[in-house]
Amino acid sequence: MTMRHFLTTADWSRSELQGLLDRAQAFKDGATSQALQGKSIALLFFNPSLRTRSSFDIGAYQLGGHAIFLDAKGATWPLEFADGAIMDGTEEEHVREAARVLSSFVDIIAIRCFPDFKDWQAEREDPMITAFAKHATVPVINMETIVHPCQELAMMLALQAHLGDVAGKDFLLTWVPHPKPLNTAVANSALLMASKFGMNIRMLIPDEVYRLDERYMSAAQGFVDEAGASLTVTSDVEAAYAGADAVYAKSWGALPFFGQWEGEAPYRAKGKDFMITPEKMALTNNAVVSHCLPMRRNVKIADAVVDSPAFLGIEEAGNRLHVQKAVMEALAQQGETS
Ligand code: CP
Repeated sequence: MTMRHFLTTADWSRSELQGLLDRAQAFKDGATSQALQGKSIALLFFNPSLRTRSSFDIGAYQLGGHAIFLDAKGATWPLEFADGAIMDGTEEEHVREAARVLSSFVDIIAIRCFPDFKDWQAEREDPMITAFAKHATVPVINMETIVHPCQELAMMLALQAHLGDVAGKDFLLTWVPHPKPLNTAVANSALLMASKFGMNIRMLIPDEVYRLDERYMSAAQGFVDEAGASLTVTSDVEAAYAGADAVYAKSWGALPFFGQWEGEAPYRAKGKDFMITPEKMALTNNAVVSHCLPMRRNVKIADAVVDSPAFLGIEEAGNRLHVQKAVMEALAQQGETS
Protein backbone atom coordinates (compact mmCIF):
# COMPACT_ATOMS: atom_id res chain seq x y z
CA MET A 1 0.00 0.00 0.00
CA THR A 2 1.29 3.47 -0.90
CA MET A 3 1.77 5.72 2.11
CA ARG A 4 -0.42 8.82 1.93
CA HIS A 5 0.61 12.31 2.88
CA PHE A 6 -1.59 15.38 3.41
CA LEU A 7 0.22 17.86 1.18
CA THR A 8 -2.65 19.30 -0.83
CA THR A 9 -6.38 18.59 -1.00
CA ALA A 10 -5.87 18.12 -4.74
CA ASP A 11 -4.64 14.61 -3.83
CA TRP A 12 -7.81 13.79 -1.86
CA SER A 13 -11.25 13.16 -3.33
CA ARG A 14 -14.26 15.16 -2.26
CA SER A 15 -15.70 12.14 -0.45
CA GLU A 16 -12.41 11.55 1.38
CA LEU A 17 -12.34 15.21 2.42
CA GLN A 18 -15.95 14.99 3.54
CA GLY A 19 -14.96 11.95 5.62
CA LEU A 20 -12.27 14.06 7.33
CA LEU A 21 -14.81 16.85 7.89
CA ASP A 22 -17.32 14.40 9.37
CA ARG A 23 -14.67 13.03 11.70
CA ALA A 24 -13.64 16.57 12.64
CA GLN A 25 -17.27 17.37 13.47
CA ALA A 26 -17.39 14.26 15.65
CA PHE A 27 -14.27 15.45 17.51
CA LYS A 28 -15.90 18.85 17.87
CA ASP A 29 -18.98 17.15 19.32
CA GLY A 30 -16.87 15.32 21.91
CA ALA A 31 -15.64 12.09 20.29
CA THR A 32 -12.27 10.90 21.53
CA SER A 33 -9.47 8.88 19.99
CA GLN A 34 -6.12 7.54 21.10
CA ALA A 35 -4.88 7.17 17.52
CA LEU A 36 -1.49 8.66 18.42
CA GLN A 37 -0.96 6.72 21.63
CA GLY A 38 2.74 5.97 21.89
CA LYS A 39 3.35 8.01 18.74
CA SER A 40 4.98 11.35 18.03
CA ILE A 41 4.73 14.14 15.49
CA ALA A 42 7.48 16.60 14.54
CA LEU A 43 6.25 20.15 13.84
CA LEU A 44 8.90 21.79 11.67
CA PHE A 45 8.33 25.52 11.29
CA PHE A 46 10.26 27.77 8.92
CA ASN A 47 7.79 30.62 9.61
CA PRO A 48 5.86 32.09 12.56
CA SER A 49 2.54 30.71 13.78
CA LEU A 50 0.02 31.11 16.56
CA ARG A 51 -2.88 28.86 15.51
CA THR A 52 -1.11 26.09 13.63
CA ARG A 53 1.54 25.41 16.22
CA SER A 54 -0.83 25.42 19.18
CA SER A 55 -3.61 23.41 17.51
CA PHE A 56 -1.26 20.68 16.25
CA ASP A 57 0.47 20.41 19.62
CA ILE A 58 -2.80 20.20 21.55
CA GLY A 59 -4.40 17.94 18.93
CA ALA A 60 -1.54 15.45 19.17
CA TYR A 61 -1.86 15.49 22.98
CA GLN A 62 -5.60 14.87 22.78
CA LEU A 63 -4.98 11.88 20.49
CA GLY A 64 -2.63 10.41 23.10
CA GLY A 65 0.55 11.40 21.27
CA HIS A 66 3.47 13.74 21.69
CA ALA A 67 4.42 16.73 19.53
CA ILE A 68 7.85 18.27 19.24
CA PHE A 69 8.32 21.80 17.92
CA LEU A 70 11.34 22.38 15.69
CA ASP A 71 12.28 25.96 14.78
CA ALA A 72 13.80 25.56 11.33
CA LYS A 73 14.88 29.19 11.15
CA GLY A 74 16.90 29.34 14.34
CA ALA A 75 17.22 26.13 16.28
CA THR A 76 17.80 23.38 13.72
CA TRP A 77 20.48 23.16 11.02
CA PRO A 78 19.77 25.15 7.85
CA LEU A 79 18.37 22.69 5.30
CA GLU A 80 19.16 22.10 1.64
CA PHE A 81 16.50 20.39 -0.49
CA ALA A 82 17.98 20.31 -4.00
CA ASP A 83 19.22 16.98 -5.31
CA GLY A 84 22.88 17.12 -6.29
CA ALA A 85 23.49 20.41 -4.48
CA ILE A 86 27.12 21.27 -3.72
CA MET A 87 26.60 22.35 -0.15
CA ASP A 88 29.30 24.96 0.18
CA GLY A 89 26.88 27.76 1.20
CA THR A 90 24.95 28.31 4.42
CA GLU A 91 23.00 25.02 4.44
CA GLU A 92 24.50 22.46 6.83
CA GLU A 93 22.17 19.51 6.33
CA HIS A 94 20.29 17.93 3.42
CA VAL A 95 16.63 16.93 3.61
CA ARG A 96 17.74 13.47 2.49
CA GLU A 97 19.32 12.93 5.91
CA ALA A 98 16.99 15.12 8.00
CA ALA A 99 13.80 13.45 6.71
CA ARG A 100 15.10 9.93 7.30
CA VAL A 101 16.47 10.71 10.76
CA LEU A 102 13.24 12.40 11.85
CA SER A 103 11.30 9.43 10.42
CA SER A 104 13.22 7.16 12.77
CA PHE A 105 12.06 9.24 15.75
CA VAL A 106 8.48 10.25 14.91
CA ASP A 107 5.40 8.84 13.19
CA ILE A 108 4.32 11.99 11.32
CA ILE A 109 6.26 15.03 10.11
CA ALA A 110 4.38 18.32 9.68
CA ILE A 111 6.00 21.25 7.86
CA ARG A 112 5.36 24.97 7.45
CA CYS A 113 7.57 26.50 4.77
CA PHE A 114 6.37 29.63 2.96
CA PRO A 115 7.95 30.69 -0.32
CA ASP A 116 11.08 32.82 -0.03
CA PHE A 117 9.56 35.32 -2.52
CA LYS A 118 12.47 35.00 -4.93
CA ASP A 119 11.41 32.96 -7.95
CA TRP A 120 7.81 31.78 -8.31
CA GLN A 121 8.65 29.35 -11.12
CA ALA A 122 10.91 27.48 -8.70
CA GLU A 123 8.84 28.01 -5.57
CA ARG A 124 5.56 26.89 -7.16
CA GLU A 125 7.08 23.39 -7.09
CA ASP A 126 6.99 23.53 -3.27
CA PRO A 127 10.53 22.14 -3.09
CA MET A 128 11.09 21.79 0.67
CA ILE A 129 7.96 19.82 1.55
CA THR A 130 8.17 17.86 -1.68
CA ALA A 131 11.69 16.78 -0.73
CA PHE A 132 10.52 15.79 2.76
CA ALA A 133 7.64 13.77 1.32
CA LYS A 134 10.07 12.05 -1.04
CA HIS A 135 12.66 11.10 1.57
CA ALA A 136 10.60 10.63 4.76
CA THR A 137 9.40 7.15 5.58
CA VAL A 138 6.44 8.51 7.57
CA PRO A 139 3.47 10.63 6.42
CA VAL A 140 4.01 14.36 5.91
CA ILE A 141 1.39 17.04 6.64
CA ASN A 142 1.41 20.49 5.03
CA MET A 143 1.04 23.20 7.71
CA GLU A 144 1.15 25.86 4.91
CA THR A 145 3.52 26.19 2.02
CA ILE A 146 2.03 27.34 -1.29
CA VAL A 147 -1.30 25.88 -0.19
CA HIS A 148 -2.83 25.57 3.29
CA PRO A 149 -4.93 22.38 3.22
CA CYS A 150 -5.66 22.29 6.97
CA GLN A 151 -7.07 25.82 6.71
CA GLU A 152 -9.23 24.65 3.80
CA LEU A 153 -10.78 21.95 5.94
CA ALA A 154 -11.36 24.37 8.81
CA MET A 155 -13.01 26.85 6.45
CA MET A 156 -15.29 24.20 4.94
CA LEU A 157 -16.28 22.86 8.37
CA ALA A 158 -17.39 26.38 9.32
CA LEU A 159 -19.20 26.94 6.02
CA GLN A 160 -21.09 23.65 6.25
CA ALA A 161 -22.11 24.46 9.83
CA HIS A 162 -23.69 27.73 8.68
CA LEU A 163 -24.80 27.04 5.11
CA GLY A 164 -25.52 23.30 5.16
CA ASP A 165 -24.74 21.70 1.81
CA VAL A 166 -22.58 24.37 0.18
CA ALA A 167 -23.02 23.10 -3.40
CA GLY A 168 -24.56 25.81 -5.55
CA LYS A 169 -24.02 28.51 -2.93
CA ASP A 170 -22.22 31.71 -3.98
CA PHE A 171 -18.70 32.04 -2.58
CA LEU A 172 -16.87 35.34 -2.93
CA LEU A 173 -13.09 35.17 -2.59
CA THR A 174 -12.09 38.79 -2.27
CA TRP A 175 -8.58 40.21 -2.39
CA VAL A 176 -8.27 42.71 0.44
CA PRO A 177 -5.65 45.39 1.15
CA HIS A 178 -2.48 44.80 3.15
CA PRO A 179 0.66 46.94 3.42
CA LYS A 180 2.83 44.25 1.84
CA PRO A 181 2.51 41.39 -0.64
CA LEU A 182 1.64 38.08 1.02
CA ASN A 183 1.75 34.39 0.17
CA THR A 184 -0.97 33.10 -2.18
CA ALA A 185 -1.38 29.84 -0.20
CA VAL A 186 -4.68 30.55 1.54
CA ALA A 187 -6.22 32.06 -1.59
CA ASN A 188 -5.15 29.01 -3.62
CA SER A 189 -6.64 26.79 -0.94
CA ALA A 190 -9.92 28.66 -0.60
CA LEU A 191 -10.32 28.45 -4.37
CA LEU A 192 -9.55 24.71 -4.43
CA MET A 193 -11.85 23.80 -1.57
CA ALA A 194 -14.86 25.93 -2.49
CA SER A 195 -14.72 24.69 -6.08
CA LYS A 196 -14.25 21.06 -5.06
CA PHE A 197 -17.42 21.31 -3.01
CA GLY A 198 -19.38 22.74 -5.94
CA MET A 199 -19.74 26.38 -4.91
CA ASN A 200 -20.24 29.14 -7.47
CA ILE A 201 -17.10 31.18 -7.12
CA ARG A 202 -16.56 34.85 -7.73
CA MET A 203 -12.97 35.99 -7.38
CA LEU A 204 -12.73 39.73 -6.78
CA ILE A 205 -9.31 41.16 -7.62
CA PRO A 206 -8.11 44.73 -8.27
CA ASP A 207 -6.51 43.75 -11.58
CA GLU A 208 -5.83 40.68 -13.73
CA VAL A 209 -2.27 40.58 -12.33
CA TYR A 210 -3.82 39.16 -9.14
CA ARG A 211 -5.06 36.02 -10.86
CA LEU A 212 -3.76 33.02 -8.97
CA ASP A 213 -1.37 30.50 -10.46
CA GLU A 214 -2.91 28.74 -13.45
CA ARG A 215 -2.51 25.40 -11.67
CA TYR A 216 -5.17 26.47 -9.16
CA MET A 217 -7.31 28.47 -11.57
CA SER A 218 -7.61 25.53 -13.94
CA ALA A 219 -8.12 22.99 -11.14
CA ALA A 220 -10.95 25.15 -9.78
CA GLN A 221 -12.46 25.51 -13.26
CA GLY A 222 -12.40 21.73 -13.61
CA PHE A 223 -14.10 21.23 -10.24
CA VAL A 224 -16.89 23.75 -10.91
CA ASP A 225 -17.44 22.34 -14.42
CA GLU A 226 -17.80 18.88 -12.91
CA ALA A 227 -20.26 20.19 -10.30
CA GLY A 228 -22.28 22.34 -12.72
CA ALA A 229 -21.16 25.45 -10.85
CA SER A 230 -19.26 28.51 -12.05
CA LEU A 231 -16.04 30.48 -11.60
CA THR A 232 -15.92 34.16 -12.48
CA VAL A 233 -13.07 36.62 -12.03
CA THR A 234 -14.02 40.27 -11.70
CA SER A 235 -12.88 43.69 -10.50
CA ASP A 236 -16.47 44.90 -10.14
CA VAL A 237 -16.96 45.18 -6.38
CA GLU A 238 -20.76 45.58 -6.33
CA ALA A 239 -21.36 42.72 -8.76
CA ALA A 240 -19.02 40.47 -6.79
CA TYR A 241 -20.80 41.04 -3.48
CA ALA A 242 -24.35 40.98 -4.86
CA GLY A 243 -26.21 38.00 -3.40
CA ALA A 244 -23.08 36.22 -2.11
CA ASP A 245 -23.69 33.57 0.55
CA ALA A 246 -20.13 33.52 1.87
CA VAL A 247 -17.32 36.06 1.70
CA TYR A 248 -13.73 34.97 2.21
CA ALA A 249 -11.03 37.62 2.61
CA LYS A 250 -7.36 37.26 1.74
CA SER A 251 -4.57 39.50 0.55
CA TRP A 252 -1.82 38.26 -1.70
CA GLY A 253 0.99 39.48 -3.90
CA ALA A 254 0.62 39.60 -7.69
CA LEU A 255 2.60 36.70 -9.17
CA PRO A 256 3.99 38.64 -12.18
CA PHE A 257 5.88 40.79 -9.65
CA PHE A 258 6.93 37.94 -7.36
CA GLY A 259 10.11 38.99 -5.58
CA GLN A 260 10.26 42.31 -7.45
CA TRP A 261 7.37 43.98 -5.75
CA GLU A 262 8.12 47.63 -6.65
CA GLY A 263 6.28 47.20 -9.95
CA GLU A 264 3.18 45.88 -8.20
CA ALA A 265 2.44 49.15 -6.36
CA PRO A 266 0.12 50.74 -8.97
CA TYR A 267 -1.94 47.55 -9.22
CA ARG A 268 -2.13 47.23 -5.41
CA ALA A 269 -3.39 50.82 -5.29
CA LYS A 270 -6.36 49.82 -7.46
CA GLY A 271 -7.59 47.69 -4.56
CA LYS A 272 -7.28 50.37 -1.90
CA ASP A 273 -11.07 50.37 -1.34
CA PHE A 274 -11.43 46.57 -1.20
CA MET A 275 -11.62 46.39 2.60
CA ILE A 276 -14.75 44.49 3.69
CA THR A 277 -17.23 46.96 5.17
CA PRO A 278 -20.84 46.81 6.39
CA GLU A 279 -21.87 48.61 3.20
CA LYS A 280 -20.38 45.86 1.04
CA MET A 281 -21.83 43.12 3.26
CA ALA A 282 -25.27 44.73 2.87
CA LEU A 283 -25.14 43.76 -0.82
CA THR A 284 -24.86 40.05 0.02
CA ASN A 285 -27.44 37.40 0.79
CA ASN A 286 -26.88 37.91 4.54
CA ALA A 287 -23.51 36.28 3.97
CA VAL A 288 -21.11 34.83 6.48
CA VAL A 289 -17.60 36.21 6.27
CA SER A 290 -14.29 34.69 7.23
CA HIS A 291 -10.52 34.99 7.16
CA CYS A 292 -7.74 32.54 8.05
CA LEU A 293 -6.17 34.89 10.65
CA PRO A 294 -3.94 36.67 11.54
CA MET A 295 -5.81 39.66 10.15
CA ARG A 296 -5.24 43.41 10.21
CA ARG A 297 -8.43 45.05 11.45
CA ASN A 298 -9.69 48.09 9.56
CA VAL A 299 -7.29 47.33 6.72
CA LYS A 300 -8.66 44.01 5.51
CA ILE A 301 -12.01 43.93 7.32
CA ALA A 302 -13.73 46.76 9.23
CA ASP A 303 -14.30 46.34 12.96
CA ALA A 304 -18.08 46.45 12.48
CA VAL A 305 -17.89 43.32 10.29
CA VAL A 306 -15.31 41.46 12.39
CA ASP A 307 -17.37 42.08 15.52
CA SER A 308 -20.67 41.05 13.90
CA PRO A 309 -22.34 37.61 14.15
CA ALA A 310 -21.54 37.06 10.45
CA PHE A 311 -17.81 36.74 11.17
CA LEU A 312 -16.64 33.11 11.30
CA GLY A 313 -12.91 33.71 11.67
CA ILE A 314 -12.76 32.60 15.30
CA GLU A 315 -14.89 29.52 14.64
CA GLU A 316 -12.76 28.65 11.61
CA ALA A 317 -9.57 28.99 13.65
CA GLY A 318 -11.06 26.81 16.39
CA ASN A 319 -11.90 24.20 13.76
CA ARG A 320 -8.20 23.80 13.05
CA LEU A 321 -7.88 21.64 16.15
CA HIS A 322 -10.65 19.26 15.07
CA VAL A 323 -9.74 18.94 11.38
CA GLN A 324 -6.07 18.36 12.16
CA LYS A 325 -6.98 15.63 14.65
CA ALA A 326 -8.97 14.00 11.84
CA VAL A 327 -5.99 14.27 9.49
CA MET A 328 -3.46 12.97 12.04
CA GLU A 329 -5.75 10.08 12.94
CA ALA A 330 -6.30 9.15 9.28
CA LEU A 331 -2.58 9.24 8.51
CA ALA A 332 -1.61 7.37 11.68
CA GLN A 333 -4.15 4.63 11.05
CA GLN A 334 -3.44 4.08 7.37
CA GLY A 335 -2.46 0.53 6.65
CA GLU A 336 -4.03 -0.74 9.88
CA THR A 337 -6.47 -3.59 9.41
CA SER A 338 -9.67 -3.55 11.38
N1 CP B 1 -4.13 30.60 9.89
C1 CP B 1 -2.94 30.17 10.39
O1 CP B 1 -2.32 29.25 9.86
O2 CP B 1 -2.56 30.79 11.53
P1 CP B 1 -1.08 30.81 12.09
O3 CP B 1 -0.20 31.45 11.02
O4 CP B 1 -1.13 31.61 13.34
O5 CP B 1 -0.62 29.41 12.33
